[in-house]
Amino acid sequence: MVSTLTGITAGSDDPKERNLQKNSTSAPPANHYLKIVASSTAHFYKPNERKNMANSSTDLKKQFMAADTMDAIGFTSSPKIGEVAESLRMLQVAPRRPEKDEVAVKLAASSIHVDEIYAAQGTALGRFYGPKNVSVENPYILGSSVSGTVVAVGSAVTNFQAGDEVIAIPYEQMQFASWASYRCIGKKWLIPKPDQLSHVQAAAVTMAACVAWGAIKFAKIEQGDHCVVVGASGAIGVMILQFLKSLECHVTAVCSGASESFVREYGADEVVDYTKNEFGEVLAGNGHYCDAVFDCVGGRDIEINAFKCLKKSGTFETVVGPRRYIGEEKLSWPAFLKVMWHIIWRMGITRLNGGPKYTFGEKYPRLVIHDAMEQLLKYDIRMPVPKIIPFEIEAVTESVRAVVTHREKGRSVIDFTRND
Ligand SMILES: NC(=O)c1ccc[n+]([C@@H]2O[C@H](COP(=O)([O-])OP(=O)(O)OC[C@H]3O[C@@H](n4cnc5c(N)ncnc54)[C@H](OP(=O)(O)O)[C@@H]3O)[C@@H](O)[C@H]2O)c1
Repeated sequence: MVSTLTGITAGSDDPKERNLQKNSTSAPPANHYLKIVASSTAHFYKPNERKNMANSSTDLKKQFMAADTMDAIGFTSSPKIGEVAESLRMLQVAPRRPEKDEVAVKLAASSIHVDEIYAAQGTALGRFYGPKNVSVENPYILGSSVSGTVVAVGSAVTNFQAGDEVIAIPYEQMQFASWASYRCIGKKWLIPKPDQLSHVQAAAVTMAACVAWGAIKFAKIEQGDHCVVVGASGAIGVMILQFLKSLECHVTAVCSGASESFVREYGADEVVDYTKNEFGEVLAGNGHYCDAVFDCVGGRDIEINAFKCLKKSGTFETVVGPRRYIGEEKLSWPAFLKVMWHIIWRMGITRLNGGPKYTFGEKYPRLVIHDAMEQLLKYDIRMPVPKIIPFEIEAVTESVRAVVTHREKGRSVIDFTRND
């Protein structure tokens, strides 16, 4: 089933719709969702995926080797902070050929997420990953997630061949160049794409699934724990929420009132509207002390609230830290070191004090990706995809503008197969 959202074709990433596909009845009550779909092995191909499958691997390789230039979205001079969208251009660049340990991939899908934009303006984590020596000869191409088809391999690659469908393991250090027809990527960063995931869903979900599962592993969650997810309506938050429900946890989502029905669809048992109430006070006031608070927003106020409602044995796990949306602006070194010092100090002091613990970050994606994928497929956990857009400059620019508002629910995805 395909529906149209705001004039843009969207696939079956909405939980209600996926249940309709299977049952042809109305959607179940929100909290029954995971149980009902847990045994699903359904595989929904999009028409363009079928077309791609029909292409022989030899044709793909020939097309790639014959291509002197390819389309790519990026910029040729470094943008000012807050002006990445304005600097984007559709460029014609020469595709790289794979080195010894590399695999060349024809992109089928790549998502758009806020940290890519921060990195492009040199403010990731407050001040990192800015483009170096950008020029017409050395353009900066955006895009970190990869879902696509292998078109050629380097001489030392034996585990992949042309025609294989692959996804990239999210990098531990951000690297870019996926908003392009082809990209080369080290073989150690690729895994086969699970059949149950469309390219669009694979591009949308992989990074956030690794972050979410990695954070849950850090927090040492046990079945049935009471957890809070702050920012549950964002991409990372909605993944943490679904993974926690797959572990049969009781989950309180913290988001705006406008996002309540959305987080309930994805399994939230209770919702606290942060625009009206402090979640720490609400939960502690009701005597609902929790085992873990997951913070996907950042800021000292969230940390202070969390420590009001955590059990003595509980964990505060933040994937952002003490500064809201770190990456929005460039921090001076003293400001950056203050943030880092806060994290180190809180991690140390909360362990010495013997009360709830402060934890920052998550396990490395390469250490959790297989477990995360297994859990995700077993419980049919999905990333909501608000927009599936063509590989065109206007659509990508508009999505980049939307993602920096932190108001997108899930991850928008570029579908390169629409341009074939
Ligand atoms: N550690 C890592 O490896 C890693 C990886 C990826 C992302 N991140 C970081 O994780 C953060 C989340 O990114 P994202 O893409 O998932 O989401 P996002 O687009 O930043 O959205 C965050 C959500 O938080 C909600 N929100 C805003 N203020 C809030 C508050 N005071 N209390 C509760 N909820 C609030 C918003 O919900 P409403 O619309 O309902 O207001 C929004 O849906 C970003 O800062 C990103 O940089 C970290």
